[in-house]
Amino acid sequence: MFPKEVYWQRRKMLRELVGDGLILFPGNEESSMNYKDNTYHYRQDSNFLYFFGINKPGFYGVCDVNGGKDTFYGDDITMVDIIWMGNQPSVKELANQVAVESTESQANLKNDLQLALKSGRRIHILPTYRGDHVITLAGLLGVSCEEVQKYVSEELIGAVVKLRAVKDQYEIAEIEKAVDVAGIMHTTAMKMGFAGNYERELSGAIEGIALSHGGPVSFPVILSMDGQTLHNHYHGNQLVDGRMVICDAGAETELCYASDITRTFPVGGKFSTQQKEIYNIVLAANMRTFEASIPGKTFLEVHLEAARIIAGGLKELGILKGDVDEAVAAGAHALFFPHGLGHMMGLDVHDMEGLGENFVGYTDSLKRSDQFGLAYLRMGRELEPGFVMTNEPGCYFIPALIEQWKVEKKLEQFINYQKAESYLGFGGVRIEDDLLITDTGNRLLGTPIPKTIEEVEETMRD
Ligand code: GLY
Ligand code: MN
Ligand code: MN
Repeated sequence: MFPKEVYWQRRKMLRELVGDGLILFPGNEESSMNYKDNTYHYRQDSNFLYFFGINKPGFYGVCDVNGGKDTFYGDDITMVDIIWMGNQPSVKELANQVAVESTESQANLKNDLQLALKSGRRIHILPTYRGDHVITLAGLLGVSCEEVQKYVSEELIGAVVKLRAVKDQYEIAEIEKAVDVAGIMHTTAMKMGFAGNYERELSGAIEGIALSHGGPVSFPVILSMDGQTLHNHYHGNQLVDGRMVICDAGAETELCYASDITRTFPVGGKFSTQQKEIYNIVLAANMRTFEASIPGKTFLEVHLEAARIIAGGLKELGILKGDVDEAVAAGAHALFFPHGLGHMMGLDVHDMEGLGENFVGYTDSLKRSDQFGLAYLRMGRELEPGFVMTNEPGCYFIPALIEQWKVEKKLEQFINYQKAESYLGFGGVRIEDDLLITDTGNRLLGTPIPKTIEEVEETMRD
């Protein structure tokens, strides 16, 4: 855990930003797979982790904004728990680890909340993403499940986003650990990227690496020769020469901070000429948007810079035509680069997405576009020092999408459909790194992971 003062300071700042009422944070409970005691991997709620730090089920945290006091609600374990799980710290000891002075039994929570409501106090909660939270919150607040939504507080969401968006030195060190584990995962996948191996052998091996370093993967591994499917979790293909593998995978540290890295490599270890051409377009977009990711620039501008680089490269290959700026303004590049350039990353791989993407990535003065492609940009707003971002341009040949646009004659002044069709079966390329926005620019997080054609081929030769 971080020093206890970190958690104390975060809660103090949160209380100041919210200004009034009680803030209620439900921790996550165990989630059963097929019978009660056979559970999925336990993952604490990220907001609970950020403000209350304890990575165990069975707790609620309450910040009393007006009283300037935080309380940890939970119960000490019983002898039965000790028999099955061994000794555990007491609630008081856990609270002390995160500088919370007041502890209460969970049985008192409902009464305390009801008293607050009766005296006209406001209770703030964050959006829920688990059904069991909706049910327990409905019970605690004395309302129906549908009415729980009324307690979701935009003031609280805004305050949490403001605090969590800017990473401190401890968080950055954790994220760098996660990136370094991802580096081992990705170089391992490359070294296994030979014909005859199954995708699942690669994905299983790299998932094991994450686990062996103390955490699970930070999201289900995306690893496929069919990289044109952006989030492909099917790992049943046997690798064949002539194809490429997209591997998009990251690790979570013991403190639950994420990495999110993508590399694309040729089966057998040597890029073909056609693969090199597309790969180098994506690599240029990745490298040059690093230069553009500086405080004061909006991430929307950086995304559009990547789009122009990709469109320019595809024009040189004869896949796009016409004026590059006009093609990008019309959204023609999105046939091949249909997703956003990146997103914030921290305790969540898509950081704070559970609070609502637009609260995290957009502002009152910068609204999300509804243009195809741009609409998937999770983050558009101005970059600030302390933000951790992914930089993940890609280029894909998605047969169904190309066919649909061709039939519709969509943007045919910019798209050479006959040429695009000659790439069907190519798959896709994505290259993703994690970076920190600094006062003057940005810094790549973690030890660099092989990325250029030479570096990838050399890694696969070893
Ligand atoms: N790992 C999913 C993504 O890159 O956003
Ligand atoms: Mn990724
Ligand atoms: Mn990502």
